[in-house]
Amino acid sequence: MADASSEYRTGCDPRTLRDALGCFATGVTVVTCVDSGGQPAGLTVNSLTSVSLDPPLLLVCIAKNATTAPAFLAARHFAINVLQTGQQPASIRFATRHEDRFGPNDWSPGELGAPVLNQSLGVFECEAHAVHEGGDHHILLGRVIKATFDSALDPLLYFRGSYRRLHFD
Ligand SMILES: Cc1cc2nc3c(=O)[nH]c(=O)nc-3n(C[C@H](O)[C@H](O)[C@H](O)COP(=O)(O)O)c2cc1C
Repeated sequence: MADASSEYRTGCDPRTLRDALGCFATGVTVVTCVDSGGQPAGLTVNSLTSVSLDPPLLLVCIAKNATTAPAFLAARHFAINVLQTGQQPASIRFATRHEDRFGPNDWSPGELGAPVLNQSLGVFECEAHAVHEGGDHHILLGRVIKATFDSALDPLLYFRGSYRRLHFD
């Protein structure tokens, strides 16, 4: 059998590092806020990590060169929409530049104002808690004010650069 293993060393090509990180299977979210002009803003994010239960904190990493980054740095609140299998089109839309990301019928403002996508698997509505330096990303810490979830839905997954679903043998 062919040897499928690869190796990355610091200073080597970032493509191999991305491939190594792609071994870590994740869910997929769309993180949203309202920008300073009152318009909804959002992007696809899989860097969600739970940080603390008491106080309830989580984090997402937003690329410093993302067009939506200034909106998130300024926003007092943001929402993390955890996607289910039927929301792959939303994940693609929110990861594509120049797309009209917010259709008229598929979202509404949450309790804190940040857009909540209809039919999400889960939604965390957060107050901005802190922003930390993270290389080419901003690390946004949010304090969870409200969390809702639908235990009947299955998660959209991301692994090795492709969308996946849960598979049970
Ligand atoms: C599955 C998936 C996960 C992603 N995760 C992140 C992430 O954690 N942080 C990030 O900044 N961009 C992430 N991206 C890339 C952004 O969604 C993408 O660059 C988007 O176009 C940025 O939009 P903006 O420049 O309008 O803000 C991810 C993309 C995909 C498809």
